[in-house]
Amino acid sequence: MCGIVGYIGKKEVLPILISGLRRLEYRGYDSAGVAISHAGKVKKIKSVGKIDVLAEKVKSVDLVGSVGIAHTRWATHGGVTEENAHPHIGCQDDLVICHNGIIENYRELKENFLKGHTLRSQTDTEVLAHLIEIFYEGDLLKAVQKALAEVRGTYGLVAMHAAEPNKIIAARLGSPLVIGVGENEYYVASDTSPMLAHTKNVVFLDDGEVAEITLESLKIYNVEQKAVDKNIEKIEWDEAQAEKQGFDHFMLKEIFDQPTVIKDAIRGRYSLDEGTAHLGGLNMTDEQMHQVKRVVMLACGTAYYAGLVGKYAFERLAGLPTEADVASEFRYRDPIIDKHTLVFAISQSGETADTLAALREAKRKGAFVRGVVNVVGSTIARETDGGTYIHAGPELAVASSKAYTNMVATLILYALQFGRLNRVSVATGERLLNALLEIPEKMKLVLAQNDKIKSLAEKYKSYKNCIYLGRGINFPVALEGALKLKEISYVHCEAFAGGEMKHGPIALLAPDFPVLAIMTKNQLYEKMRSNVEEILARKAPVIIIATQGDDEVKELSEDVIYIPPTMELLEPLLNTIALQLYAYHMAVILGKDVDRPRNLAKSVTVE
Ligand code: AGP
Repeated sequence: MCGIVGYIGKKEVLPILISGLRRLEYRGYDSAGVAISHAGKVKKIKSVGKIDVLAEKVKSVDLVGSVGIAHTRWATHGGVTEENAHPHIGCQDDLVICHNGIIENYRELKENFLKGHTLRSQTDTEVLAHLIEIFYEGDLLKAVQKALAEVRGTYGLVAMHAAEPNKIIAARLGSPLVIGVGENEYYVASDTSPMLAHTKNVVFLDDGEVAEITLESLKIYNVEQKAVDKNIEKIEWDEAQAEKQGFDHFMLKEIFDQPTVIKDAIRGRYSLDEGTAHLGGLNMTDEQMHQVKRVVMLACGTAYYAGLVGKYAFERLAGLPTEADVASEFRYRDPIIDKHTLVFAISQSGETADTLAALREAKRKGAFVRGVVNVVGSTIARETDGGTYIHAGPELAVASSKAYTNMVATLILYALQFGRLNRVSVATGERLLNALLEIPEKMKLVLAQNDKIKSLAEKYKSYKNCIYLGRGINFPVALEGALKLKEISYVHCEAFAGGEMKHGPIALLAPDFPVLAIMTKNQLYEKMRSNVEEILARKAPVIIIATQGDDEVKELSEDVIYIPPTMELLEPLLNTIALQLYAYHMAVILGKDVDRPRNLAKSVTVE
């Protein structure tokens, strides 16, 4: 996704913009640019490629000043060219804007307003620049508000005008923007990471709001153009947390974060004495909880696979009919949703367009809608009628890891809270909670096999395809593990429920088509063992995820990753880590860009 950074204050703005763009690199981009307003002029520099290219280019230009905006572009309309990079201008070069999102009616706007205007790029954003210019009569705030009133689509937008050098206008609709409040200075960005080194006091813009930021003040107006008061929120994350802390990649750091951050997902949200969970954000009375007759998990990608584990947990503990739905499918079906349905919108970024659209559809149909989200103040978090932050901390690698296990832990706590309303006893609840409290240490035992897992990736690095197999609660784990391997190592990997092998996929098996089978000691162990024996009969290589102490598996394969025993319901919290590490090492061995895999973005804020 595109990234926006802006600053207004007393410091030299250029280094702040460049370092801010670097903090947004994880979002995925293909070009970048900066613009600085100084002494009645606005100068802009743009480049294709990485931030380093831009940083080199600005050295040869005199870009002094203390007010500026900058952008990383992830192409949506128009190719990857310098002309299409942001910032964009109108006919004159005294107005500049940076934009994240999609102006859906840009052709119509061009037709209706831009006759006689010469457009330099193929972007929808440039049309918006010209539109603001047309409405500009000396007040940039008014010009932006008038232009946006004509727009259909989504935007995170910052704008500057040479005639108002001490001002940045920021506006958001469907594409996040946050304002950092410093000492006589303000930052504005697509998320908090560019400002964490400078301030942790932030204001999240809501949809439809426009901010006028000057050295003296921050004024925010709603869609009716009325001034609104906003709370200043304190970000929990500091710069250090967001750094790699000595790991080679953000992804490896985040995989190793899991024993720590899982505690943050659990802390203060349970009572051992009562054998239950207390997720305050649920924002439902016991009576309302009793009204729930059905649960729906809505999410995309990894978050969807967490939702699948949540399905097992709710059915097992709460005895409630539960389904997990891909948000992009849900929103275009005719889902059966009513006031007895509890919908969880699960999302790390809290900005995934499909998940947001699906939750809005569920709200329209009268469901209880709750968020299970990582990013504080994100749109999904603010549009649900309650929910829980998973407290995984900043997840900068495009491939999700710690957010997944924190989502799973949070959903299991929700399932316990509902389960204790009727069918789960105190003793069972207490047993589950005690097992959950042992998970952080058991995660460390899985992480301790990092070298062993790395050697397995080395052994299997030449295979172009593989299959992951799991049954029951480990089928979602197989799906998530296969996604990890696909998205960072580009090895083709498909996951199947173990029982499905005989219905087709087994035709794929051959000596050059390995299988990774999750065969931990649980009620489906024998079924998985049969699967593995069928696989071996076809001479396909097998890696086995097994439970510590199970020596029998060594008869089946020498390639075994042992996992500490735990309750079946909690296995995803441990088994998944082995698959995250396997994917990570495979990607490194194959020389891939682990933190920023090709074609992917960290947060998919467009359909
Ligand atoms: C996960 O590794 C992927 N990067 C992707 O599937 C991601 O989980 C999906 O896009 C959903 O993102 P969200 O959790 O921010 O909504």
